[in-house]
Amino acid sequence: MSEYNQSKLTQDVLAAFAGTPDPRLRELMTALVKHIHAFAREVDLTPEEWLAGLNFLNATGQISTERRPEFILLSDTLGLSMMVVSLAQARASGNAKGATEATEATVEGPFYWPGAPDMPLGADIAEGISGEPAFYMGRVTDLDGKPLAGALLDVWSGDGDGKYDVQLSATPTMRARGRFRTDAEGRYWFWSIRPTYYPIPDDGPVGVMMRATARSINRPGHIHMQVSAPGHVMLTTHVFVGGSPFINEDAVFGKRDSLVVDFDAHPPGKAVDGREMKKPYHSASFDFRLAPIPA
Ligand code: BEZ
Ligand code: FE
Repeated sequence: MSEYNQSKLTQDVLAAFAGTPDPRLRELMTALVKHIHAFAREVDLTPEEWLAGLNFLNATGQISTERRPEFILLSDTLGLSMMVVSLAQARASGNAKGATEATEATVEGPFYWPGAPDMPLGADIAEGISGEPAFYMGRVTDLDGKPLAGALLDVWSGDGDGKYDVQLSATPTMRARGRFRTDAEGRYWFWSIRPTYYPIPDDGPVGVMMRATARSINRPGHIHMQVSAPGHVMLTTHVFVGGSPFINEDAVFGKRDSLVVDFDAHPPGKAVDGREMKKPYHSASFDFRLAPIPA
């Protein structure tokens, strides 16, 4: 096929989609066709490579279940999930101030489990699990620094071995999860552990891709938070542990510099909330800024 006919092929496919009634679907399909045709031409894609790619996608589908969303992991490791998160945060905030001054969003990941227990401020979500204790505190405010009282923090964490409850059995029991409401000054505080780095699931096609491309499969230590308050854009984000191994090579590109916090180390003794700590512990302070929902 001549180069002229290759271009004509792309034009013919685009024309076939031109009558798509839904304008947004038409826009998506048109751009998709343009980009995959351009990709094939740019790399001079061979039939063997094309088939290997299709087999890879097939395997990704075959291993996928509700609890094992391999396509999402593929999207995560290609940086596409983070791109969509970033576009969504800018769009939902509606203006440059919201997009740049709100706390940065990052990927939700596969381990969110709705319905974590409501806990009083100061509670320990990680009682009895492995890991070094850590005290978390901070405030939830709007973009002008005004405290948001009664804001909801939905928190989830892996344990000291980097494992989430949902990874431990087919019928897991919730642990290292909790929901907190900020006080009248927008403050929150609770106990958990200082999270450790951990590998993303690598026993499927995504693991094959990561090894073939010599990429790190690890995520730096982080704790997940979903923060919401009436009239404000809900924020899904993490607090990352400063100095964690892999802090600059997050396998899913979720790390943002603005979310990295230096955890302070403390000897045993009375903690800031009055709790008597028999073991050394850590503390971390992080404030969340929520953008208003645009009018
Ligand atoms: C997580 O942080 O829980 C996560 C995010 C993306 C892929 C795998 C794990
Ligand atoms: Fe995580």
